[in-house]
Amino acid sequence: MAARTALRRALRPVRNAVTHPAQQVHFTRPFSTTVPSLAASSSPSSATPEYAIPDPSRPTHFGFQTVTEGEKRERVAGVFTSVAESYDRMNDLMSFGWHRVWKDHFVASLNPGFSPLTSDGDPRGPQHILDVAGGTGDIAFRMLHTAHVLNGNPSVRVTMSDINRAMLTVGKQRSAQLPASQRAALSFVEANAEDLSRTRPLHPYPSPSEPTTHDSQTQKPEQAFFDPATATGSIPDSSVDLYTVAFGIRNFSNIPAALREARRVLKPGGVFACLEFSKADKHPLFNSLYKEWSFRAIPLIGQLVAADRDSYQYLVESIERFPSQTEFRDMIVDAGFVVAGEGYEDLTGGVAAIHKGMKPRD
Ligand SMILES: C[S@@+](CC[C@H](N)C(=O)[O-])C[C@H]1O[C@@H](n2cnc3c(N)ncnc32)[C@H](O)[C@@H]1O
Repeated sequence: MAARTALRRALRPVRNAVTHPAQQVHFTRPFSTTVPSLAASSSPSSATPEYAIPDPSRPTHFGFQTVTEGEKRERVAGVFTSVAESYDRMNDLMSFGWHRVWKDHFVASLNPGFSPLTSDGDPRGPQHILDVAGGTGDIAFRMLHTAHVLNGNPSVRVTMSDINRAMLTVGKQRSAQLPASQRAALSFVEANAEDLSRTRPLHPYPSPSEPTTHDSQTQKPEQAFFDPATATGSIPDSSVDLYTVAFGIRNFSNIPAALREARRVLKPGGVFACLEFSKADKHPLFNSLYKEWSFRAIPLIGQLVAADRDSYQYLVESIERFPSQTEFRDMIVDAGFVVAGEGYEDLTGGVAAIHKGMKPRD
């Protein structure tokens, strides 16, 4: 293990060389599958490092507690099953509506549906977007609106995936408000981001007030989170143009495994884009006010509005535990993506950040 760590440290300057300005991929332009080939692309070794293989018995964090990866998966499932019905209302209350601004900016920066570098000169080609940990649909719906309405490209389709059926079911109910053409371009898939080779279409989940249903195949009571034993499909290698994950990745039990899967499913030239809470510590006064708000107010609001203090306590602890902007950028590079410049963009002083990486063309 020590030898592997030393090797990774020794390789880091070489990998970071791909972020040299001369080789930068400029993400101010939209994502595209037709970006030029990078001569000095970083290519991870073909062998998957041990830490990127999910192991249910390996220690990890659930907020400030140390648990196993398997326990974290179950407890995170419990949190999101519990908050699914109040999730959208709570997001507005907790962030004073800022999450909408961040999500709008995230989607605008990716400009789905517009790809200026296509060989035939037509910037509107078919694109497949995979929104992982899609929850109740905020990113997927914005992607469809931008692609279909703003960019006039109806050939963009979005797959919304999540490990939690309760969240995805709320998302599906919300999608009824979309125009029919956008609904037709949207699909729902149950999947664990750490293993996208095992998925299944969304099985509707009862709301907490409804009786528990039974799985028609196993006759066991339906659980709120995806059981890979019931998988019927897979997200194939090199099938996705844009992979998005918003406020989801800090909840994963094994983030390197999810990054490895992101790289597998993306086409060469495809883009990984992540919106996540981050560190606001470049601004100490603002940071201490923000932390006071997070740790004092958010669990209390959770208790008063959603009658669920514990879930919101976990949410603020999970934000605190998530790696810094540069640490997470290094994890993205380690997973074999190339990044532009610093590799991230701070939002609201670093309260949230957008990270992007491109899967190199071989
Ligand atoms: C805070 S919500 C974000 C939802 C949505 N992306 C948004 O921005 O509003 C986090 C989501 O991550 C999902 N999630 C947690 N662990 C996951 C995993 N291993 N694989 C896929 N989704 C996961 C949860 O079920 C939940 O829906």
